[in-house]
Amino acid sequence: QLKHLLTIVGLACVVSVQATELKELRIGTDATYEPFEYKSPDGKVIGFEVDLANAICAEMKRSCVFVESPWDGIIPSLLAKKFDVIISGMTITDERRKTVSFSNKMTDIPYRIIVKRGSGQDGSPASLKGKKIGVQKATTEANFAEKYYAKAGAMIMRYESTQDSYLDLSAGRVDALIGNLVEMKMGFLAKPEGKPFEFAPYELKDQTILGYGAGAAMRQSDTKLMSEFNAALKTVRANGTYKKIADKYFDF
Ligand code: ARG
Repeated sequence: QLKHLLTIVGLACVVSVQATELKELRIGTDATYEPFEYKSPDGKVIGFEVDLANAICAEMKRSCVFVESPWDGIIPSLLAKKFDVIISGMTITDERRKTVSFSNKMTDIPYRIIVKRGSGQDGSPASLKGKKIGVQKATTEANFAEKYYAKAGAMIMRYESTQDSYLDLSAGRVDALIGNLVEMKMGFLAKPEGKPFEFAPYELKDQTILGYGAGAAMRQSDTKLMSEFNAALKTVRANGTYKKIADKYFDF
């Protein structure tokens, strides 16, 4: 009798453990974008958006699994179901909305331009005529550079990652870079190799190209996943978790 009972209790435990095992949410990311998503010295994917995604997943009763993807090709990989969500500092634009859906805004960081300290360049298209401007390939800043700087006579250099563009800037192979203010500051300017450079004062504006802040991208058919994600994002904003994570990564 007792033995039977124990077996039954044992079985019930196994069943309940399986029932609470969390369903995965596979997230595609280009982890070269400090402090949003980058690698720790031991190779782990870490960052503001990683912690934020984990908090959102906890609300959704899912477990986040990060899948690394090169930036150029991250949308095709989402569509090919290599993962179900892109969280990679991706700017929400009308152009991208033709192929993917976006969550509510997760961050909203202005764009800036970096030039050599003391170069006298104000960062405007006119001041960079005949110069080389670096951007990460397939980004909103690449489109902006094309529209405003190439037209003014600059040459646009497209890089696989911002990291590659920093190397070329340091080596003098490019004169200026356009990108996300926080990523440029924390991923480059605040480091020893960034010391010879500074933000130029010029403010980049054109919402049709530079978009509406960054969000998570999903396949357009995944409407249920999208509403669950947005509800979880709303909760972590409201309960102070978002703020806590931001304070951990952003030092200003
Ligand atoms: N703002 C840009 C865009 O969405 C760049 C984002 C790049 N993100 C990254 N993890 N490399 O076009």
